Amino acid sequence: MTTTLFTQEFWNNPFPVYAALREQAPVHCVTLPTGSDIWLVTRYADARAALGDPRLSKKQGATDNAKAITDNQVSAPLTRHLLASDPPDHTRLRRLVAKVFTARRVEDLRPRVEKLSAALVDGMRPKGRADLVEDYAVQLPIQVICELLGVPVEDQADFRRWTGVMVAGSASTAGIPEAAAAFLGYLRALIATKRATPADDLLSGLIATRDQDDRLSEDELTSMVFLLLVAGHETTVNLITNGMYTLLTRPDEHRRLIDDPALIPAAVEEFLRLESPVETATFRTAVEPVTFGDVTIPAGALVAISLLSADRDPERFPDPDSFDLSRPDNQHLAFGHGIHYCLGAPLARLEAQIAFTDLLAAFPDMRLAVPAAELTWRPGVLIHGATALPVTLRPA
Ligand code: HEM
Repeated sequence: MTTTLFTQEFWNNPFPVYAALREQAPVHCVTLPTGSDIWLVTRYADARAALGDPRLSKKQGATDNAKAITDNQVSAPLTRHLLASDPPDHTRLRRLVAKVFTARRVEDLRPRVEKLSAALVDGMRPKGRADLVEDYAVQLPIQVICELLGVPVEDQADFRRWTGVMVAGSASTAGIPEAAAAFLGYLRALIATKRATPADDLLSGLIATRDQDDRLSEDELTSMVFLLLVAGHETTVNLITNGMYTLLTRPDEHRRLIDDPALIPAAVEEFLRLESPVETATFRTAVEPVTFGDVTIPAGALVAISLLSADRDPERFPDPDSFDLSRPDNQHLAFGHGIHYCLGAPLARLEAQIAFTDLLAAFPDMRLAVPAAELTWRPGVLIHGATALPVTLRPA
């Protein structure tokens, strides 16, 4: 292997490293840039099994190390959410949020998503060049999640900054306590305002669940809003960015999709498989020893499941590095699997399908403005996405 793990060269192109890891062994004990040792699962069959394995706990504090972090007064009120809990708490919380975050609420958002997307495209039209990330891919999901939750979109600069620090945590822990404290203060003020003046939005629905039915605690409510706000805007941006990157580096497929927009839903699934926006699923802790092939992960160990690697496993997907619009049975793991399967998957798919429909129709001559090899990809094992995507919008 010429590239080592967790360098900028790795983030820019992790695929050869993952291919070598998949070949060598089912799991590898590696050291994160933060100094923590973690067991990395890289093959599809193992990843799918691990995502559904109750011996791999999501509960914060399942080990002494994790407990020290969550006992911290600042982070505790932000870690009582779905992705930090096991059944029965997880089952209760998921049922409560599923009641207000319904398929109907997502479908009702369609005209708003179309309108927001059209406005962003119109803003780009007069330009010859754009950065697809800042000008479109960040904006659409953030505006949609703010509307869905009932959060003022003007506050986005603040929570984007805090989230940026917190999700980069696997690359560096600098500034995390300060960002978490600021985010917590913001969420508490937001909930207080919404309590005083409820509206027809998801946050008001969650507050009613807490206040009228007393079925979730104040920390669980705060954590839920935190998770939805972060998950709602940190992931879909990379589906749109990475999908557009995939097309701009494959002119024939790009042209095919412009000519036949009916292929867009299949293309979105291939974007998810090929350039998974979530690089590794959120970490788990082995509460008992867990064996993959001939390797046993000891109890107490931290485990990371690489979705990016699993979805390029040639044992599951023939010719895994190719973009194939007619790939049969495309059961990728980009939205996870099992009880923590992504709650926002229908919303993410809706946004992405509208985004590609609009972008391809408005800018059929879009091209990368720099060579693909010059793009920088985000560091950190949680998120996979280009930091910027400079494009020209029409022929020179
Ligand atoms: C869970 C990916 C968009 C809310 C997950 C998980 C993945 C994922 C991989 C499972 C993590 C694990 O098991 O450790 C994605 C991708 C998205 C996306 C790739 C966009 C392309 C969204 C959106 C929302 C959302 C838009 C909310 C509005 C959630 C929530 C969970 C979750 C609440 C936790 C579910 C649970 O633990 O029961 N997502 N997500 N996601 N996602 Fe998403």
